[in-house]
Amino acid sequence: AAEIFATGELDGVRVLVTGGPTWEAIDPVRGLTNRSSGKMGYAVAAAAAEAGARAVLVSGPTTLPDPDRVRTVRVVSAREMHDAVMAEIDAADIFVGVAAVADYRPVESAPRKIKKEAERLTLDLVRNPDILADVAKRRPDIYAVGFAAETEDLEARARAKLEAKGLDLVAANLVGRPGSGFEADTNTLLLVDRRGTTELAQAHKTALARILIHEIAQRYHAQGR
Ligand code: CTP
Ligand code: CA
Repeated sequence: AAEIFATGELDGVRVLVTGGPTWEAIDPVRGLTNRSSGKMGYAVAAAAAEAGARAVLVSGPTTLPDPDRVRTVRVVSAREMHDAVMAEIDAADIFVGVAAVADYRPVESAPRKIKKEAERLTLDLVRNPDILADVAKRRPDIYAVGFAAETEDLEARARAKLEAKGLDLVAANLVGRPGSGFEADTNTLLLVDRRGTTELAQAHKTALARILIHEIAQRYHAQGR
């Protein structure tokens, strides 16, 4: 079936994708994480490879197998994901940030399991680096795509992220409702760029990823690349 989608639209183009959640250790047995199965990021990396791209996926912890024909780099924390992306970014033409990166991590991670003693416990958190924003800053020439998961005000917030991070495209989805985002097999996306807004109807994440890659390829080549 994959051959049908072997469009060649991204022949020889180098695509770097992040996927899955990140996991920020509190102690050796506990951590902070985001809700993300990794399905969307893995599907985007696989769709890029199908379209002929040389695809690399930097993935946080998931239970999914490495996608076919995609070089997959496994990481755990946001800082590890940041380092892995920065090590690959100079060799990429397109970056797609699908990962649900933890915005904060514990200031320190306890070397031993925290025992249940205190009645109240406060976690001190510090901001993680913004991988996507750093990619756009370090490689202003790259075609940079972000995802935005929002519970409300989707288009305006997506447009705000497009501008704030200096992106070329934001794929936005409403989360917290049936058939969209998180662990679901289907998703709906709103594509927001400087030329306007395109709605991609609800579809299986595999199908949606192929359509997204097609939309990205068209825009990438329209820039004369
Ligand atoms: N992202 C990233 N590094 C981070 C946080 C987010 O690369 N530390 C990327 C995500 O992979 C996604 C995009 O930024 O492509 C938007 O993530 P989102 O969580 O929606 O936005 P934030 O900028 O983190 O803002 P907020 O969570 O406050 O909405
Ligand atoms: Ca965030």
